[in-house]
Amino acid sequence: MTEQGLIEGLKKLREEKNAIILAHNYQIPEIQDVADFVGDSLELVQQAAKTDAAVIVLSGVYYMAESVKIAAPAKKVLLPVLDAGCTMANMIQQEQLRVFRMEYPDIPILCYINSSAEVKAESDLCCTASNAVSLVRGMKADKILFVPDQNMGSYIATQAPDKEIISWDGFCMTHHMVRPAEVDANRSRHPGALVLVHPECTAAVVERADFVGSTTEIINYARQSEKKEFIVGTEMGVLHRLRKENPDKKFYLLSPVLTCFNMKKTALTDLYWALEKEQHEIKIHEDILEKARLCMEKLFV
Ligand code: 13P
Repeated sequence: MTEQGLIEGLKKLREEKNAIILAHNYQIPEIQDVADFVGDSLELVQQAAKTDAAVIVLSGVYYMAESVKIAAPAKKVLLPVLDAGCTMANMIQQEQLRVFRMEYPDIPILCYINSSAEVKAESDLCCTASNAVSLVRGMKADKILFVPDQNMGSYIATQAPDKEIISWDGFCMTHHMVRPAEVDANRSRHPGALVLVHPECTAAVVERADFVGSTTEIINYARQSEKKEFIVGTEMGVLHRLRKENPDKKFYLLSPVLTCFNMKKTALTDLYWALEKEQHEIKIHEDILEKARLCMEKLFV
């Protein structure tokens, strides 16, 4: 099928099945262009929680589809490519949290949305890059375990200095690889450009940045800024919206390592077959879903 054929086919299938396509900001441009909504991790669950559609196709990675299912348990949630995973999410297991809980029953567990439904079910509260700092500031406890991203954990610690953040040692294989020297080199190459980075980058990169935020926060910041040039320190998928929404501005990728192979697994054809065959449906055990929903409650509003 041609690209145009796929786009028309998707339009028809969406109407027939009362479906919507939610895509993460890291998805390939062709998918972002056909999606009903493109956004960051928080916006995707919020869209899912309020949609009237019967079917939600989540174009992204597995934990995002699970999170959408938790946000909208009555809907049919489809992930086009089943093995589009998240290496960071796999760096913590439910059993490890159970052991921690037994040893430290008084320390609340805050999990990053980049985690499995089972890990969420074992945690007290869930956050995303865009609300992690405000949620932590609002927590009563002085000491908090944050899982699984060590870089996000250290970023939160700098923004909420009155809290003691114990971080798990996971990391995002894409953001973690960016070196601080690349920020310095880009600044000399593009003097006057602002450096915008994701908090999944290491502390040495984050402290050199002009702005730190989630994917959508980076996009919003660049749109509102009067500056014309930006060095972008997050996955290259965001460049599509940045360039499309700001044709008068220039965007440079901070590092060539900023490509997430899992986010690039989904093609337009996968989206088409996902809707046509209603595959692959996300199923979560009822007990896990209920507990994970409690942990994610603050995200749905
Ligand atoms: P956000 O879209 O919430 O910023 O998350 C980005 C990310 O790195 C997902 O793994």
